[in-house]
Amino acid sequence: MRNDAELLDHILEHVDNGTTDLGDEEWFEPVENYASQARCDAERRLMRRLPIPFCPVAALPGPGSYVARNLAGVPIVVVRDQQGTIRAFRNACRHRGMQLADGTGCTKIFRCKYHGWAYRLDGRLEYVPHEHGFPDLDKDSNGLVPVHSVDIQSGLVFVTQDEPVGLGALESLQDLLTDDQVIFESEEKVEETNWKLTAEGTLEGYHIKPTHPQSFFPYGYDNLNVVEMQGPNSRVCYPFRRIEKLRDAPRENLCLDRMVTLVNRIFPFTSVTRLAQHYAVSFAEPESPTRTRYFNYRLTLPTVDGNGPSDDALARAKKDVAFLSDTGDKEDAKVVSDIQAAIGSGANTHYRFGRFESAIGHLHKNLAVYLARLQSHEGNVPRAEHRAASEETLIDTRLA
Ligand code: FES
Ligand SMILES: [Fe+2]
Repeated sequence: MRNDAELLDHILEHVDNGTTDLGDEEWFEPVENYASQARCDAERRLMRRLPIPFCPVAALPGPGSYVARNLAGVPIVVVRDQQGTIRAFRNACRHRGMQLADGTGCTKIFRCKYHGWAYRLDGRLEYVPHEHGFPDLDKDSNGLVPVHSVDIQSGLVFVTQDEPVGLGALESLQDLLTDDQVIFESEEKVEETNWKLTAEGTLEGYHIKPTHPQSFFPYGYDNLNVVEMQGPNSRVCYPFRRIEKLRDAPRENLCLDRMVTLVNRIFPFTSVTRLAQHYAVSFAEPESPTRTRYFNYRLTLPTVDGNGPSDDALARAKKDVAFLSDTGDKEDAKVVSDIQAAIGSGANTHYRFGRFESAIGHLHKNLAVYLARLQSHEGNVPRAEHRAASEETLIDTRLA
């Protein structure tokens, strides 16, 4: 990925020439891949066998803080233990399977609400009421069941539930969040749409003028983006017009904060977006081909001194959120729900993504590669056929 000075020069080149970044060719994605239950099931199985971002590290500020939610349909709890280590367990009691944690919070111990079995933050089974009723119980081997692995990278907690089929996003991850960024808002919401339609809407600037004529376009450009890939991940840069003021700025230590929107797609389900005055992090949990649950967080910008945000910065961040929710977010959501409603129209067998939309082709291409890998690990999993402009683009041999 380019640093901010390189990014600026590349953007100014596009401004001067009226150009934008172009992929090599078009990508055609079968509409069936948005609609079929078999495909959705395969994506969810893949989700269990890749490192998947679960929450920002900032959501676990101190010992005992936890986040519990479903990941690929499996209840998982992530917790920071007394020593500060972040751990992830299947959120199910070893007695009769009750979930131990709900949502977010902070606790000293996970006590089951059903019969009161209690587990330490490192998962050890600590206490069983009336223990003499379980003469064969070995407490040491009945702790909470951990996931395959937990990785902390770029300010995100990655959870790999089962034996992974590859490194996924961790093949090569860009810098994302820093330690001084603070969560100032979080929400869980359900959209009656396929997760890929929403992701696609964030990965190209070809739609900015027609879809966002009054909201984003007056501050930005028509179809001017920098598109970068790193492993299966990508980053799409949307410059603001005010960036042209930096034409003569010294390039040393140049910072493009407030001059660009940067959408990072963390393969495949997560986005980390650096906006003008805050960061938005969105974790998608596909529940069906037509239903996606989102766990969204808003964080303050990194600070120059690393000491956390001032009151002013926080107020600006909240104003930024209010502007987006009133305008661009609604415009994007309307497009996605309209496409979803027309998905069964029979008009298209494939959706067509042009050379401006190469980050979307990159997402689909890598998803196809990883699903093929999953299939070879599992045996026989049904998969829709792809049609690429050339066969070479279908399988990236570096990943296969
Ligand atoms: S299910 Fe948890 S104590 Fe019984
Ligand atoms: Fe949009």
